[in-house]
Amino acid sequence: MKTLTIRQPDDWHLHLRDGAVLQAVAPWSAAHFSRAIIMPNLVPPVVTSADAAAYRERILGALPEGSGFTPLMTLYLTEASQADDIESGFRNGLVTAVKLYPAGATTNSQSGVRDVEAVYPVLERMAKIGMPLCVHGEVTDPEIDIFDREAVFIERVLAPLRRRIPELRIVMEHVTTKDGVDFVRGAGENIGATITTHHLIINRNAILAGGIRPHYYCLPVAKREKHRLALREAAISGEGRFFLGTDSAPHVDPLKESACGCAGVFNAPNTMACLAHVFEEENALDRLEAFTSLNGPAFYRLPPNEKRIRLVRSDEPVEYQRKIRAGQDEITVFDPMFPIHWKDEDDAS
Ligand code: DOR
Ligand code: ZN
Repeated sequence: MKTLTIRQPDDWHLHLRDGAVLQAVAPWSAAHFSRAIIMPNLVPPVVTSADAAAYRERILGALPEGSGFTPLMTLYLTEASQADDIESGFRNGLVTAVKLYPAGATTNSQSGVRDVEAVYPVLERMAKIGMPLCVHGEVTDPEIDIFDREAVFIERVLAPLRRRIPELRIVMEHVTTKDGVDFVRGAGENIGATITTHHLIINRNAILAGGIRPHYYCLPVAKREKHRLALREAAISGEGRFFLGTDSAPHVDPLKESACGCAGVFNAPNTMACLAHVFEEENALDRLEAFTSLNGPAFYRLPPNEKRIRLVRSDEPVEYQRKIRAGQDEITVFDPMFPIHWKDEDDAS
């Protein structure tokens, strides 16, 4: 048996949804993480500070008694977003960041941004007040192959945005390519990136080779092996600009196992166990804490958690729940395709 004690992790990119799914999934994130950046892509989206306040209450209502979990709220950027409302939500501590979805890029992104020029005044205000922008980095141009959409986004949108407002603090969410890793490394202090658990584990073969496996389909879609290796290298590097954002994105099974299935991988229940496996495989367990518990708070200018958790590795594989129930339906938990030996527990010390 091997153990590792680290500061409690945070999740810098999480979908909790609403209604029965929220009730079902929130306790799983709260069991492992202290804080999470909550994605605003509900239907209708969380656009105003008032929307965020109401959604925050619903999240708190879905947590188990005594949970210390803190949802860090984000606002969904539209071309009609009001800079004053965003600023007041940020200043009074209700809202942590703003999320930019290119319109049509992913689940519930129809009200997102079509023309980035249209939101520059809001972005300039955010730069002025030090408020981070979380970016879904994919173009939506149908001419662009889905596997190239992240790289083309960097060239067409992100690099020009950075040149125009270098003070804006940007998180390139769920980076999936070597191009993304390289861009973030070369872009200076104000740009960070989240990396998901599943993109460290699967490449595109998981979705398509030997049968179509909808539970591995998410956006940005997993890429070739060389990209997965670049993500691993970034995650284990210890560099402050890379941190965990699980992008745990639950959809009930009928919506995944369908002729046109939804994008999203639900990994909240076993993320820490999977990450311990990955970092152990890379001989980098000493850098797991930086990735899950230190780099994110530093980027968001928050203190790291004081509480510690203990990760325990047993020789025998441990069982984990493969599906969870949400109302009448079930949600499938991410299957890393390797036996899981790690478990995280509250450290009594
Ligand atoms: O796979 C994804 N699922 N990617 C996203 O960007 C959105 C998310 C969702 O909300 O389901
Ligand atoms: Zn997401």
